[in-house]
Amino acid sequence: MNLVLSAHAKINLDLRILGERGDGYHDLKTIFQALALHDELTFTRRKGPFVIECDDEKIPTDERNLVWKAASLLWRTVVERRGAAPRDVAVRLRKRIPVSAGLGGGSANAAMALLGLPRVWGVDVDIPTLSRIAASVGSDVPFFLVGGTALGLGRGDDIYPLVDLPRTYVVIVRPHFGVSTVEAYGWYDNEPRRPLRDATRRPLPERWPEWAMNLRNDLEAPVVRHHPAVGGIKQLLLDAGAVVAAMSGSGSAVFGLFERMDAARRTAADLSRPGWLVVATRTLSRSEYAARMRPVLARSRKRRIN
Ligand code: C5P
Repeated sequence: MNLVLSAHAKINLDLRILGERGDGYHDLKTIFQALALHDELTFTRRKGPFVIECDDEKIPTDERNLVWKAASLLWRTVVERRGAAPRDVAVRLRKRIPVSAGLGGGSANAAMALLGLPRVWGVDVDIPTLSRIAASVGSDVPFFLVGGTALGLGRGDDIYPLVDLPRTYVVIVRPHFGVSTVEAYGWYDNEPRRPLRDATRRPLPERWPEWAMNLRNDLEAPVVRHHPAVGGIKQLLLDAGAVVAAMSGSGSAVFGLFERMDAARRTAADLSRPGWLVVATRTLSRSEYAARMRPVLARSRKRRIN
């Protein structure tokens, strides 16, 4: 039996750091947006140890992979409480989401593992348990159980669905280097002058596209200081006519938002450079996200157009 799930990317339309916490994390107020761009996970039930296979050889397929972490936590919580390792399934990962980019690829994969593995193992897991495990796998993982446009508070793991952004076309540019999340937050902490705390700013969207003018990512300036190319890409996207352009999450990818698909496609073609990954995609509403998340049997799977 094969089960296939799409794991969609996200961007952070807005990311404000409200302060440091005692636990090594930062308190955030962020607006997540799901994208059509996705990886694909195929779960195959077979006797034996848990295995991850990936078409990108740079991705670790051992316990460093968030799918592995999700499988271990899930197994220990709902299958075998005595700490044994997960087993009896192989997960094949088809990677399309650029890595170390701030697009949530690893977290999205982990969230889909949390939805797919219980089916393969034949166990039921309630939503609060899934959400709890998701948050312990990583701060971004709970968003991927919801999708669409959503507000993230706390570590970014406390998710509140928002009114969906109207369908918007998105150009993603991931330069030839990635940025590690730990490093980006470290650079933020070492900034000589921190951006002011921003409690008075309204967290919820005003009218689109005017709303776009107030978008901000507090991690962007520290990352640009270490990687000026990120600022250069943002300017290229704005020059190409993006309504707004910003770094996503902790980078290194930069996104530009476009109201028209043809403008996004043209920009993606124009920005193609050796070493850069450039993708034209679009936003996904919460209902579109839910429809695509629904597990489907591989054999009866119909082709889908993005
Ligand atoms: O939760 P996750 O494992 O993705 O976080 C990776 C790292 O990013 C954390 O160890 C922390 O250094 C940083 N982080 C943070 N504040 C957040 C989320 C992540 O400082 N809200």
